[in-house]
Amino acid sequence: MLRGVTRDFLSIDDLSPDELADLLDLAQKLKASPGDYADRLRGLAIAMIFEKPSTRTRISFEVGIASLGAHPLALSSAELQLGRGETIEDTGRVLNRYVDAVVLRTFGQERLELLARAADIPIVNALSDFEHPCQCLADLLTVREHRGDLSGLVLTYLGDGNNVAHSLLLGGAKAGMTVRVATPPGYEPIPQVVRRAEDIAAERGGGVEVTNDAAAACRGADVLYTDVWASMGQESEATARTLVFQGFQLSQQAVDAAAEQVIVMHCLPAHRGQEITDEVIDGPHSVVWDQAENRLHTQKALLLRLLDRA
Ligand code: CP
Ligand code: NVA
Repeated sequence: MLRGVTRDFLSIDDLSPDELADLLDLAQKLKASPGDYADRLRGLAIAMIFEKPSTRTRISFEVGIASLGAHPLALSSAELQLGRGETIEDTGRVLNRYVDAVVLRTFGQERLELLARAADIPIVNALSDFEHPCQCLADLLTVREHRGDLSGLVLTYLGDGNNVAHSLLLGGAKAGMTVRVATPPGYEPIPQVVRRAEDIAAERGGGVEVTNDAAAACRGADVLYTDVWASMGQESEATARTLVFQGFQLSQQAVDAAAEQVIVMHCLPAHRGQEITDEVIDGPHSVVWDQAENRLHTQKALLLRLLDRA
């Protein structure tokens, strides 16, 4: 199991299939009986550093850490010396002496890797340009709650082949799902991630499909998922992307093409009227608020395993 002070969570691929299933089981227990775990991290301190904005990640980690009895420190890079040029490695060497884990939201994945190399404590990826593994844990728990056993389910992701798509490809494949990603040409997930997801799917009996045909990808899907067309850091491309992504909206038409019991997911924040319609996000198939809630439970499970306190 995921245990020990030197383990990091930089990618969903850092978990074996068994560790992933175990984390989801633990999250389910934490959700059912939070009081049983109230003191598990007593005496510890966990720092969170945000180099990009956040609502869900910041608040769910802060509340989750406090509810396990530890002290959360939520910090933006602008208020740290990081914002004045101190390196991420030196920041890590210092934090190593004060806190028991660091949660980092940043741009390049290499910043997480540099931090992990500089500090002996667990480092958690709270979103990078490359992946959003904490989101993926909550997503998989939500699918399991609503659709049961993950193995064999078809998850279709519509939109940009971004950080969220990468984690879903890797995590979904690890859980034995078939993950279909439909993007406009030129916005596909990066080939290295697709190849890795294909290898995992081959071992686990799932599948990976990357296509530019949104309508075909929605057919028969058990889960329909979307995310913003312009991620944090891509604001200057937002207008151009609105045109390019027109055919990739999660609309009622997409829901009608999917399985009857399809669930609709979005990591949030949503740009209503762009990647998802009001009708769909507020409709009977939407599980987006459960999905947001599950960030709390899955991240608590993750911290308990990383700090060996489960
Ligand atoms: N889904 C997600 O990570 O949301 P925030 O950007 O609000 O943390
Ligand atoms: N892909 C989005 C996810 C936000 C939670 C972004 O990186 O901005």
